[in-house]
Amino acid sequence: MSRGDVAPFSLSLSFPRPTEACEIILERGALGRVAAFLEAYAPAPRYAIVSDGTVAALHGSAVQRAIAAAGRPAELLTFPPGEANKNAARWVELLEALGDLPLGRDGCVVAVGGGVTGDMAGFAAAAFARGVAFVQVPTTLLAMVDAALGGKTAIDLGAGKNLAGAFHQPRLVLIDPATLDTLPDAELADGLAEAVKHGAIADAGYFDWMTDHAAAILERDPASLDRLIEDSVRIKTGIVARDPLEAGERALLNFGHTIAHGIEQASGYAIRHGHAVAMGMVVEATLGERLDLTRPGTAHRLRATLAAFGLPISPPHDLDPDAVIHALQSDKKARAGVTHYALIQQIGTPASPPWTHPVPHPLTHAALQTL
Ligand SMILES: NC(=O)c1ccc[n+]([C@@H]2O[C@H](COP(=O)([O-])OP(=O)(O)OC[C@H]3O[C@@H](n4cnc5c(N)ncnc54)[C@H](O)[C@@H]3O)[C@@H](O)[C@H]2O)c1
Ligand SMILES: [Zn+2]
Repeated sequence: MSRGDVAPFSLSLSFPRPTEACEIILERGALGRVAAFLEAYAPAPRYAIVSDGTVAALHGSAVQRAIAAAGRPAELLTFPPGEANKNAARWVELLEALGDLPLGRDGCVVAVGGGVTGDMAGFAAAAFARGVAFVQVPTTLLAMVDAALGGKTAIDLGAGKNLAGAFHQPRLVLIDPATLDTLPDAELADGLAEAVKHGAIADAGYFDWMTDHAAAILERDPASLDRLIEDSVRIKTGIVARDPLEAGERALLNFGHTIAHGIEQASGYAIRHGHAVAMGMVVEATLGERLDLTRPGTAHRLRATLAAFGLPISPPHDLDPDAVIHALQSDKKARAGVTHYALIQQIGTPASPPWTHPVPHPLTHAALQTL
C-alpha cells in the first residue's frame, strides 16, 4: 500500500487531569474518619502513606493504622523532614519504594504532611505507573491554605526550587485543623502570611476580619482558625478553578512572591518563606503606590495586619538591594530591565487582566532601599 492510500490520521485528545474534580473536605477531627473518606472519594486496593519522619510519628502512622484497621493494605513510607529532602534522589527512592510494595496502577498515594511532603509525594504519584490516584492530608497551615490546593507538584533541582514537577490533581484534600495543634509557631506564621495574601488579593472583608481576630488566631482559637482556613481555601480554589494551568489569573497568587523569592535567594534562604512573603507584599504594595496603580495607604494597611501577626513589615537593613535585583533577573518573569509583578489595586482588589505589571528595576531598588 502506498502512502497515498492511507487515510489522513487525526486524533483529538483531551487531558482532563489538570481540571479533574477534586473533593476538598475541611472538618475538625476528620482524621479520625480517614478510612471512610478514602473509601468514598479515593477507593483503592492499596494505599501508600507518605510522611516526613516528624509527621509520621505525629499523624502518618495513625492514618496508616486507621486504613489497615478498615481492611485495606496500607504502608507508611517516610523520608527525613525539610526542604533539602524535596530532591530528585529522595523522589527516586520514593518511586522505588512504591514499586517494591508494589502499589499497582490502581493504588493510591496519600501525602500526610506539609508542602514538602505533598509536593514530592504528588510528583511521585504523577509519575508512578504514569499517574496513580493521589490524596492530600495537609498538616501545616501553609499546606492547608496553599500547597495542597491546585494540583501543582514538584521537587527542587540544583538549578532552582520546584523546577521539576507536574500538574496532578488530588482526588481528595482532607483538612483536619486539629493536626495544627502540634505545629510550631514559626511554621504557623508561614501559613498566616499566605492567608494575609489571600485577603489582600481577593477579599477586603476577610482581610479586616483576620486583622481584628489576629490575637485569637495566634492563640489557635479553633473557631477562628477554622474560619481562616475555610476562607483561604475558598479564595485559592476559586482562582485555581478559573485558571487551572496558570495561563493568567493564577498569577494573582504571586502577590508578594516575586520580591519574596528575590529576598529568599539574596539571604541564602536564611529568611523563611512567610517572612519573605510578608516583606514582599509591603514592597510590592509600595511599588504599586509609586506607580499610581495601587491606592495610597495600601502598604500601610498591610503593615498593620502583618504586624498584628508578628510578621516582618520591611526587609532587614543588612539585605543588599543589588543582590535582590540580581536574583529577580534570574526569575522567570524578569524581562530586560523590568520585572512583572502581580500588584493589587487596593486591599481585596487585584490587578485587572493581564494580571501583571512591568516595574523597572531602579524603582524596585529604590523601594528596597527606603523601606
Ligand atoms: N504545590 C504548591 O502549589 C505549593 C504552594 C506553596 C508552597 N509549596 C511548597 O510547600 C513547601 C513548604 O511547605 P511547608 O511549610 O508545609 O513545609 P514542610 O512540609 O517542610 O513542613 C514544615 C515543617 O513542619 C513539620 N510539620 C508538618 N506538619 C506538622 C504538624 N502537624 N505538627 C508538627 N510538625 C509538623 C514538618 O516536619 C516540617 O519540619 C515548599 O517546598 C514549597 O515549595 C507548594
Ligand atoms: Zn508562598
